[in-house]
Amino acid sequence: MMKIFYFTGTGNSLAVAKKFNGELISIPQVVKGKNTLVYQDEAIGIVFPLYCLNPPKMVREFLSRAKLQTEYLFAVATYGNLAGASMQALQKAVKSYGYQFDYMNTLLMVDNFLPNFDVIEEISRMPKKQTQKKLEKIISDVFSRKRYMPKVTQKDRELSELCVPLMEQQDRGENAKAFIINENCTRCGVCVKVCPADNILLREQVTFCNRCESCYACIHACPQNAIHLKNEKSSKRWRNSEVTLKELIESNQ
Ligand SMILES: Cc1cc2nc3c(=O)[nH]c(=O)nc-3n(C[C@H](O)[C@H](O)[C@H](O)COP(=O)(O)O)c2cc1C
Repeated sequence: MMKIFYFTGTGNSLAVAKKFNGELISIPQVVKGKNTLVYQDEAIGIVFPLYCLNPPKMVREFLSRAKLQTEYLFAVATYGNLAGASMQALQKAVKSYGYQFDYMNTLLMVDNFLPNFDVIEEISRMPKKQTQKKLEKIISDVFSRKRYMPKVTQKDRELSELCVPLMEQQDRGENAKAFIINENCTRCGVCVKVCPADNILLREQVTFCNRCESCYACIHACPQNAIHLKNEKSSKRWRNSEVTLKELIESNQ
């Protein structure tokens, strides 16, 4: 038996998490809902996206508080472009909590970071990313209980160092305050339901608090395409085709 803990904004990480056929557990739900995070299983996996070369803040909080009792602990980070030395940094962090991952890997998928990437172009880059092939390898590695850590270069480490201030800024939770809600908003509440951090209030207008995880779930899932960034490459939005809006809501509500 296997437990898979996951965090997802636009479905990539949930699509991957589902492939392990384990018991799926939403990290936002357990972090928000329970004080003692003690779990036991033959194997335990964590699947999450990278934001500024790091796991989302809530995933880091989960890993700092959880007691994961297992013979085999693994992590898969989905990302769109550059992973830097993210797995090394995460391994170092969890070692300071007294445990370590047996297997870590990264998986290139569609990049949903709208300031740098246009979703249509990203979809056209998919064949080059060879996601399916690498995912099959990761699943086979995990089922054979392989131990592995991706190799990184000095450049990767430097990139991760450069991203520390960006991550710290992101961790303040205020990114959504710069999101623009346009006149297409019908106050349908989908943004509230897909937000993993309970960061959105539906008042006279949609209001963002200061717990934003920067996952962009609200922006990408808005049925009216009413949430925008000042500096987005295009207004096209993304949800992984193997994940429904209902699943995103059930994961993050
Ligand atoms: C705020 C933000 C920051 C991101 N930073 C990175 C990054 O540093 N490196 C990278 O390759 N992809 C980055 N991405 C892209 C996501 O990691 C990638 O699209 C991921 O698969 C999304 O997973 P999800 O659909 O489960 O939310 C970022 C995305 C967002 C929204």
